[in-house]
Amino acid sequence: MPPALSVTVNGGYVDTLVSIASARSISLFQVNWAEHQMIPRQTPSAPADFTGRTDEIARIDEAMAAGTTTPVVAITGRPGSGKTTLAKQTAALLTDRFPDGQLYANLYGDRSRDRDHAEVLGLFLRALGTPDSQVPADPDEASALLRTTLAHRRVLVVLDNVGSARQIRPLLPGPSSSAVLITSRRSMAAVEGAWHVRLGNLPERDALAFLGHMAGSRRMAEEPDEARELVRLCGRLPLALRIAGGQLLAKPQGTIGSEVALLTPVHRRLARLRNDDLEVAGVFESAFLRLTTEQRQALGCGAVLPVESF
Ligand SMILES: Nc1ncnc2c1ncn2[C@@H]1O[C@H](COP(=O)(O)OP(=O)(O)O)[C@@H](O)[C@H]1O
Ligand SMILES: [Mg+2]
Repeated sequence: MPPALSVTVNGGYVDTLVSIASARSISLFQVNWAEHQMIPRQTPSAPADFTGRTDEIARIDEAMAAGTTTPVVAITGRPGSGKTTLAKQTAALLTDRFPDGQLYANLYGDRSRDRDHAEVLGLFLRALGTPDSQVPADPDEASALLRTTLAHRRVLVVLDNVGSARQIRPLLPGPSSSAVLITSRRSMAAVEGAWHVRLGNLPERDALAFLGHMAGSRRMAEEPDEARELVRLCGRLPLALRIAGGQLLAKPQGTIGSEVALLTPVHRRLARLRNDDLEVAGVFESAFLRLTTEQRQALGCGAVLPVESF
């Protein structure tokens, strides 16, 4: 009697197993896993309630279709303006255009020390199939190997939260059909030949639609003036709207008016715009950041941060 074989399968493989069980003969062969390298899809998804940004998405799409080799698109804007979210949403929309996958890394440009590019090179090379033991220790060599590896592939490289052009130069593909999507709080003017998409506040209509996803259509219909006021108090900044909307989500019986009342005292506004790991105050602490006067007044930042910070 041959030894009993027990295999658990699920998903799409069940049909395959049924076919094998009813086949008259089967051939067994060894799969060379190196040839069946998983296609990297590293970009996290955007939230399901992603709203607006149609012009910006169209511009990124245009850049990616422009026919130039290795287009680089830099999404820049204030903290909380939705740069990372737009990059994630666009990357998902572009999935078919980059059949060899997507690489994603957070470069932590908002921290006091930028992430070391050598670490990201290792991450990317391993994701593209380079065995750990063959990732060059020398960063220049690793950078050259990345360019070689990408030369004949169509990969979208997403570099989130970039601190400086210098930080990412070693991570850019050479001439190829790949493309790069960058997000940064800084201008990225030093990235030669890049397309620039500057993110402003959400237009009022989109800000209301975004708030509506969280507050619910009943409350939005019952309190249209309060909803507009809440959007104004948030400076139409997506991060502030996300937090204020989250407060409404957490209190299904509460009114938009009561949230407006809580946010109206300027000295309490930033303290109120905080929820779990999201907070408006923290992202505005760095001195190099700039707010518009309208946003500063709306968010009450002047009361909390020294004027010189702006
Ligand atoms: N267009 C959008 N639609 C829905 N939510 C958004 C949008 N843009 C940003 N957000 C939300 O706002 C918050 C801040 O966005 P994020 O992309 O992290 O900003 P940034 O990268 O510019 O600091 C997140 O909670 C995100 O979900
Ligand atoms: Mg970000």
